[in-house]
Amino acid sequence: MTITNEPITAKAHTNIALVKYWGKADEQLILPTNDSISMTLDHFYSTTSVQFDPVLSTDEIILDGIKLPADGQQRIRQFMDLVRQLAGITTFAHIETSNHVPTTAGLASSASGFAALAGAAAKAAGLNLNRRELSRLARRGSGSATRSIYGGFVQWHAGHDDETSFAEPLEEKVDWPIRMIAIVVSRDEKKVGSRHGMKQSQTSPFFKDWVKQSNADIEPMKTALLKKDINRVGAIAEHNAMCMHATTLSAMPPFTYFNGDTIEAMQLITDLRNNGLNCYYTMDAGPNVKVICLENEVEPILDHLRPVFGDAHLVVAKPGSGLTYL
Ligand code: DP6
Repeated sequence: MTITNEPITAKAHTNIALVKYWGKADEQLILPTNDSISMTLDHFYSTTSVQFDPVLSTDEIILDGIKLPADGQQRIRQFMDLVRQLAGITTFAHIETSNHVPTTAGLASSASGFAALAGAAAKAAGLNLNRRELSRLARRGSGSATRSIYGGFVQWHAGHDDETSFAEPLEEKVDWPIRMIAIVVSRDEKKVGSRHGMKQSQTSPFFKDWVKQSNADIEPMKTALLKKDINRVGAIAEHNAMCMHATTLSAMPPFTYFNGDTIEAMQLITDLRNNGLNCYYTMDAGPNVKVICLENEVEPILDHLRPVFGDAHLVVAKPGSGLTYL
């Protein structure tokens, strides 16, 4: 194994789950309780460079130009320890990440961040991993990062151990004008991080039903994607997201990611749908809402969203690509 002296830079896009990952069967290995399906987005991404340097006595981590304080570095250091262990090295690294995603506001910067870090760190450490192996490695940083190794529509197989839990593309180059409109109702840091939130949700008496429902959603979602059926894709995704959020509301103690704007956005999308537009919403571990629709209805939908949320808070994303090296 040879460490590369040059910095290695990788770029990965974030993804939004259509059937969600929300619960761990194994916290150490980050094995999920169920399979999930996502769409990688073109608009939100992270670029990360890694350079191993024998002079360093610890990993040096810069996020968006600012050196991370020690407590914020824990997850990245642990991840780098894993990379070092795989590569059989002890050298520390300079790590520089830029997030083109509102960090921790429910647009999944940990997915793009750890996918890009997995790609850059593995290559810089001289590991020659294929995409399945990279997907497994990214999983150890953050579950949703497992899927960001690939573009388009992606399935994460829950598996039962490190080897069997990986993502696979369903359709990498999407030949369908599906769109996601992100309504960024809040760019603030979220109050309950996804790691903590999903753990707390596992106390819900409905948690096992959530897992059952998600598993039942996988095949119908794959069929709907294959058939390019926006109403099926949207309806399954919207229902799946609400089942996920039902586990937060029924957790002990209960909590929610919704704020007033979230509810307003969901209501507006439902009203537009009742008035004939084919649009559906999904939400993750933050207050932002993502609207699933087709390109030809983006403008009429935006016409209704702009007066309420403002143009600057609306971002239209297309299916994006998988991990690349710059
Ligand atoms: C709601 O991948 O952030 O976005 O594995 O603990 O890092 P960790 O969690 P994370 O959880 C993402 C949850 C979600 C749904 C999804 O992306 O499937």
